[in-house]
Amino acid sequence: MTYSERQPVNDLSALPDDFTWGVATAAYQIEGAVAEDGRSPSIWDTFSHTPGAVDNGDTGDVACDHYHRVPEDIGLIKQVGAGAYRFSVAWPRVVPGGDGPVNKAGLDFYDRLVDGLLEAGITPFATLYHWDLPQVLQDRGGWTVRETAEHFAAYASVVVERLGDRVKDWATLNEPLCSAWIGHLEGRMAPGLTDLTAAVRASYHLHLGHGLAVRAIRALSPDARVGIVNNLSPIEPASQSPADLAAAVRADGHINRWWLDPVHGRGYPQDMLDLYGVELPLRPGDLETIAAPLDWIGLNYYFRQIVTADPDGPVPHARQIQLPGTRRTAMDWEVHSEGLEQLLLRLTEEYGARRIHVTENGSAYRDVVGADGSVHDPERTRYLEEHLAACARAVRKGAPLAGYFAWSLLDNFEWAYGYDKRFGLVHVDYETQRRTVKTSGRRYAELIRAFSGGRPRTAA
Ligand code: IFM
Repeated sequence: MTYSERQPVNDLSALPDDFTWGVATAAYQIEGAVAEDGRSPSIWDTFSHTPGAVDNGDTGDVACDHYHRVPEDIGLIKQVGAGAYRFSVAWPRVVPGGDGPVNKAGLDFYDRLVDGLLEAGITPFATLYHWDLPQVLQDRGGWTVRETAEHFAAYASVVVERLGDRVKDWATLNEPLCSAWIGHLEGRMAPGLTDLTAAVRASYHLHLGHGLAVRAIRALSPDARVGIVNNLSPIEPASQSPADLAAAVRADGHINRWWLDPVHGRGYPQDMLDLYGVELPLRPGDLETIAAPLDWIGLNYYFRQIVTADPDGPVPHARQIQLPGTRRTAMDWEVHSEGLEQLLLRLTEEYGARRIHVTENGSAYRDVVGADGSVHDPERTRYLEEHLAACARAVRKGAPLAGYFAWSLLDNFEWAYGYDKRFGLVHVDYETQRRTVKTSGRRYAELIRAFSGGRPRTAA
């Protein structure tokens, strides 16, 4: 009995014919080879080597050794049925000094990757910044200073100049919320600061770097399709009390509106500016730069947040609570696929999105390798099916959804959680680097095949 005989294929028929079916990864989480071919240390090398910063003392030194296994990993992208691959380029490989000389060997690596993808019929989606700032720039102030935004645009130009003839889909930043809030305010990610002023300044310079990079990409590659990737959460108040309702508005400002409004030309939300009480290092023309028109919006969705007022807690003075009886992943994140539908519709209705990609969505579970070497992951498989169904519902209601990228192709270095948290459609044995496609990966291939029939699995 095949899997599809046991479980009918979801009704995904509402998705557009040219829907992009993808998988996603990020450089520091999979590449390894941190000291090879001229790469310089990034803030994540520093952070992961800081005692106590990452669970089990794990680092990205070797990760999935993807740097040496590109052909095998491209084969896996094909095996899980994907027609598009979202990867990130490591700034410290390409411009090891942060600004200045280009490292040809670093660019060559991505050149080979892109060629390999195209030969395999897989469309590359490149992200220019997925958190691995060159440490040398951090030493000069990192995202808290304006120069970093300018260096980012220069680095973007270098990458687009080399790959722009073959890569058409570009994301500037991945989840700037994590860089700014988790990295500079909560201290749980690199660079590990706990400073509200630094965090707000970092958020601003991330946005500015995004806008400058959009301009740089367009100047070099007029037919490029450019977007930004935000991780968003629907926010719900824990009760209807005025305090909880107000907390939900603040949490929504902190998690969603702060990241969406400026890139949509609305400036920064005044209620949040008042709450943070930090002056933005605004210069004339910056808000226009930040609001550079985009071709698509990337949505990374993992969970909703139910919040209660927490007057004595850190900004935004709203604490997450857990509803009893909810399904939760190994990250302790609630499984709530309706949240994905809600966010797609919010982007459409409130922000006027004309093209959206779900650039990440996925789940960590405690996978067990069976005696026969197989990895059966029914919870992740169900998660995938439910979230794809949510995409189809949103499309039926009018969301211009163009693609879905499962997070992640491979189990990988899950930042401060190290290697224990496995998100892959493909299992990685970190001792041997053996890869095994999980049931979820086979199911993804099956769903894509059933949907696509003979059609390509990505838009041209
Ligand atoms: O692994 C991360 C990824 O790097 C960014 N988005 C969320 C994923 C799961 O935590």
